[in-house]
Amino acid sequence: MGAETGPHADRETGTADHGFDPAARLAEREARGLRRDRQPVDRVASRSRRAPDPRGGEPSYGAEELIFAANDYLGLAGDERVGRAAAEAATTVGAGAGASRLLTGDTGAHRALERDLAAAKDAERALVFSSGYATNVGTIAALSPDVVFSDAANHASIVDGCRLSGAETVVYDHCDADALADAMARRETNEGSWLVVTDSVFSMDGDVAPLTALCAVAERHGAWLLVDEAHATGLHEEGGGIVEREGLADRIQIRMGTLSKALASQGGYVAGSEPLIEHLSNAARSFVFSTGLAPPAAGAARAALHVARTDDDRRARLWEHAERLREGLAAMGYTVWGETQILPVVVGDRADAVALAAALRERGVVAPAVRPPTVPEGTSRIRVAPMATHTERAIDRCLAAFEAAGRAVGVL
Ligand SMILES: Cc1ncc(COP(=O)(O)O)c(C=O)c1O
Repeated sequence: MGAETGPHADRETGTADHGFDPAARLAEREARGLRRDRQPVDRVASRSRRAPDPRGGEPSYGAEELIFAANDYLGLAGDERVGRAAAEAATTVGAGAGASRLLTGDTGAHRALERDLAAAKDAERALVFSSGYATNVGTIAALSPDVVFSDAANHASIVDGCRLSGAETVVYDHCDADALADAMARRETNEGSWLVVTDSVFSMDGDVAPLTALCAVAERHGAWLLVDEAHATGLHEEGGGIVEREGLADRIQIRMGTLSKALASQGGYVAGSEPLIEHLSNAARSFVFSTGLAPPAAGAARAALHVARTDDDRRARLWEHAERLREGLAAMGYTVWGETQILPVVVGDRADAVALAAALRERGVVAPAVRPPTVPEGTSRIRVAPMATHTERAIDRCLAAFEAAGRAVGVL
């Protein structure tokens, strides 16, 4: 369509408007109930103070609240050892990497972290990216599979990686190895490279992929498996994830995870074979064409990984908290899904979930309402995520808040 005849053409002057109208797009989002605010916190910890969205101004923090909304599961973001490691990397290596890792941005801090990750994962090599999102997008696209089989509840970064790879993507039913087997069997030809991708722990459902069964199906077809351990890395024995817990390390070709959750920092990693890592460091565009992970983030993640691998008590505390919360919430009559440290308290209706989150907040507990389209219609929920650094008293306060808030809004 010519500019003069376009929808935004000004007939008098003959000029056209090919710009954008972000205000209208925001209003449309608002009308669909999808507009989100950001509420800054004064620090990343199990207790912190939050401020209403200050837009361009300075935050004005309220009273201290209990945070049950973070992915800093081991509470290491505020740990002194982790902070010291970040500071040391900043002063001895640099505050930023200064360039892509393929130019001059590859430092000893990156290499030390990659050696430790490879050791923790019992893998030949590891490679760190500047975020978990960049890891998935870059890795899947660099593999350039012909077909990807992807769990229906996989994280957005996996979905985007599939899109970017240009592969035919077959979505199989959530956590259903039989559905994967059927999808593979239905294919007319057995040709090309096939990649199966799944989260190990699903961030909104708190459930665990049937990895052993998925391995068996993938192996029958000689397909590769990529497992995203974002919500499991560091939380199991010796700092491993679900893959290590299930003894599947040598059956899964690509193990990725984030440094941004239990490892309390920023970045993502892939652990795998030497040729895989060398290929990714050449072909993953989010690695090649992006500045290397900041050295302080590498230093912090390395220190956090060390704690995750050696501090059994800290990990045990997280699991005790999760169990106490799960039992307490179920005893009150709440429906709690999943089987991990992520506790989705499912209330169904989106307005109920929003009201419950607000009522919890009034009682000093921050736990977000998760609604469609993030989760399927009718399964709106509060996502509760304890941290190892919560005290027992904080867990009790969270439970008491759920009881009172649930009665106040009529979901109990
Ligand atoms: C399953 C999963 N994969 C990948 C990511 C992306 O990781 P990051 O936040 O480090 O970019 C996330 C985080 O939200 C996630 O939940």
